[in-house]
Amino acid sequence: MDPQNFVGVSKWKLDTPCLVVDLDILEKNIQTMEAHAASFGKKLRPHAKTHKCSRIAKMQMEAGAVGICVAKVSEAEVLVKSGFKNVLITSPVATDYKIAKLMDSLSVDPNFMVVVDNATNARHLNDAARKRNLRLNVLVDLDPGMGRTGVNFQAGVTMGQWVQNLPALRLRGVQCYAGHVQHIVSFLERSRLSQEWMKKAAEVFRQFQKAGLPAEIFTGTGTGTFEIDCLIPELTDMQVGSYTLMDAEYINIGSSRNPSRLVQFPPALTLLTTVISANHTQFVTVDAGLKALYHHGGTPSVLNPSIPGLQYEWRGDEHGQITLPSPSRKFEVGEVLEMVVSHVDPTVNLYDFFYCTRKGVVTDIWPIDMRGKSQ
Ligand SMILES: Cc1ncc(COP(=O)(O)O)c(C=O)c1O
Repeated sequence: MDPQNFVGVSKWKLDTPCLVVDLDILEKNIQTMEAHAASFGKKLRPHAKTHKCSRIAKMQMEAGAVGICVAKVSEAEVLVKSGFKNVLITSPVATDYKIAKLMDSLSVDPNFMVVVDNATNARHLNDAARKRNLRLNVLVDLDPGMGRTGVNFQAGVTMGQWVQNLPALRLRGVQCYAGHVQHIVSFLERSRLSQEWMKKAAEVFRQFQKAGLPAEIFTGTGTGTFEIDCLIPELTDMQVGSYTLMDAEYINIGSSRNPSRLVQFPPALTLLTTVISANHTQFVTVDAGLKALYHHGGTPSVLNPSIPGLQYEWRGDEHGQITLPSPSRKFEVGEVLEMVVSHVDPTVNLYDFFYCTRKGVVTDIWPIDMRGKSQ
């Protein structure tokens, strides 16, 4: 059935497994983060890798974001083709093919930006931009001890000077994303570590200024450190992503308001799954397995029915198992359960669209148009 036919229907009647977005919660989450950033004089440059949906990116821009981050060239293409400006690719772009594609996006959006962490790569970007008579905006990517991408802090200014001397590149500042601290459960420990890394990045930003290098942008931060990194005066904008939809991994970290929960952003995204077999007293089998719910991150939690002790576990590609607390009420074949997903980004990437709801009724279908854009 065409998903549009479900508009006006209760979410409990949807064809499962499927993803449902509660628009009231999503709007609130976007407003909460925007207001938080503004209260610290920061801008948002939210990451679209979480939702992979240009409709949600548009809501973020309308709420006041200065631009949108993506991880991949192919994600950027979707946004640029839909008219987005100020797109930043937060990972280095390394091959000639991808660099050529990046230049296509730059030719449409002169504010298009990418990070670099390697001198040869910067030269390749410069040569490609020069050939197309374009100028590419660049941030130096700083590695906060995570070892994923970025130059170490000591090499930051040298990389900045190198970029500055390449005429078809336009240096704009630095990026530092401390992904390895985002999910530390203790808010105090996360604060201590994030401050430690981000202060070092801020020092590089100040060195840029002293050296006369352009230092307009210092971008970083995730949902786990949104309350922490905003205290760094040099930080100009926040690349938060997961706060929009949320997942079990993030809900179960401490925040300034609660030692074991990130209470400021309730889950806007849930997954519906149906009981397809109920022949045991201790558990039932549901229709969401590895292909419907990505196996990484936190433990998915059952929101509805709200029975303490219900536990989801993966049972292969197509199936999941809900273990029942004893004594529990009996579950019937055909009954639908609602869960918070374990890790939002890779789960969203498994679906073509979100069912958008208000008060439990489907109001719209939004394509996950960056789904599968992993190149
Ligand atoms: C470079 C970068 N920036 C921002 C984000 C968004 O972070 P979060 O989902 O923790 O809010 C990510 C997520 O992995 C990222 O890799």
